[in-house]
Amino acid sequence: MNLLDKIPTRKEIESLGVYVPGKPIEEVKRELGLEKIYKLASNENPFGFSDLARDAMIREVNTTNSYPEGTAPVLAEKIALHLGVAKESVIVGNGSDELIRLLSRAYIRPEDEVIMADVTFPRYETNIQIEGGKVVTVPLVDGVHDLSGMLEAINDQTRMIFVCNPNNPTGTIVGRVALSEFIEKVPPHILLVVDEAYYEYVTDEDYLQTLPMLEDHPNLIILRTFSKIYGLAALRVGYGMMHPSIVKELMKVKEPFNTNRIAQAAACASLDDAGFVEDCKQKNAEGRTYLAEEVARLGYSSFPSQGNFIMIQLDRSGDEVFQALLKQGIIVRSGGLLGYPQTIRVSVGTPEENQAFIQAFKEAMVTSQ
Ligand SMILES: Cc1ncc(COP(=O)(O)O)c(C=O)c1O
Repeated sequence: MNLLDKIPTRKEIESLGVYVPGKPIEEVKRELGLEKIYKLASNENPFGFSDLARDAMIREVNTTNSYPEGTAPVLAEKIALHLGVAKESVIVGNGSDELIRLLSRAYIRPEDEVIMADVTFPRYETNIQIEGGKVVTVPLVDGVHDLSGMLEAINDQTRMIFVCNPNNPTGTIVGRVALSEFIEKVPPHILLVVDEAYYEYVTDEDYLQTLPMLEDHPNLIILRTFSKIYGLAALRVGYGMMHPSIVKELMKVKEPFNTNRIAQAAACASLDDAGFVEDCKQKNAEGRTYLAEEVARLGYSSFPSQGNFIMIQLDRSGDEVFQALLKQGIIVRSGGLLGYPQTIRVSVGTPEENQAFIQAFKEAMVTSQ
């Protein structure tokens, strides 16, 4: 018997799995002995990050012996200015992952129900489960959130709703009118979290600008991140806009120094480089179209994506295709892990990476048969 059997974890933790991230490049190199690896698995920015962020990080490195400012006030104020919201409405997190955790920590009581799409970003479910809340999932329709189904799922126990827009892993958005009507209809005592991690990549005009709705909807919470288009995934900076009284509650449950100095400095500097963001947005849109068209040419469909990734629908298991691609040095995400077994999710890379993927995909669809 293990001595620790007498110290069991809380029952909420027992059934939880450990988050499985996209396979790291170093691991694949080691395992397969391949030199050239392309990682198109974690929706990172293949074009790096702004030079302004690099300079800011280098400048900040000498201050590492002192703690950062716990609430990242300079960054929060800059975000507020950038977006035209009050600085009291902004909270900075250790990635938007942390903000999802803080929301769950502060608001979810055992037996509270939380509505989300099936399939969507898995951290919502995990954090709700940790707090003992009940996850209520509403299936996507053609890869898109079923907002009327989500409204119907509301009952007296509902405490929170997540809408991921664009949705990870399908990349789809909900229409402008449908989302604004949904925001109007969600009762004001239910927190409505709209996760816009991929906001900057959206090119479809039918995308709702949610920030102006904050004022009239104190239950609305908008999450964004520096991990995607700003290319700062390793630094862990996300941010949320919400009613100042919600910010105050989240401050109570966050770690005192949740974002570090280098990350705060880099994020601040990134906001000054609109050119970098615009350039990445354009290249991503080109890459996204290229991938969708090439995949279609090969006879496969993908969900219409507005993010920096596409989800390809296969006629066989995503796990098999993932393995066949891995052998060729291309790391993608199997839909098996994401709740869509017959799919793979591919991040949009550089033109070279996208072409390498299409070549390898052709080959994989032969070898994995
Ligand atoms: C929809 C969505 N939300 C949030 C996150 C978390 O991002 P981060 O914690 O890096 O800000 C991700 C990361 O992939 C995501 O896809």
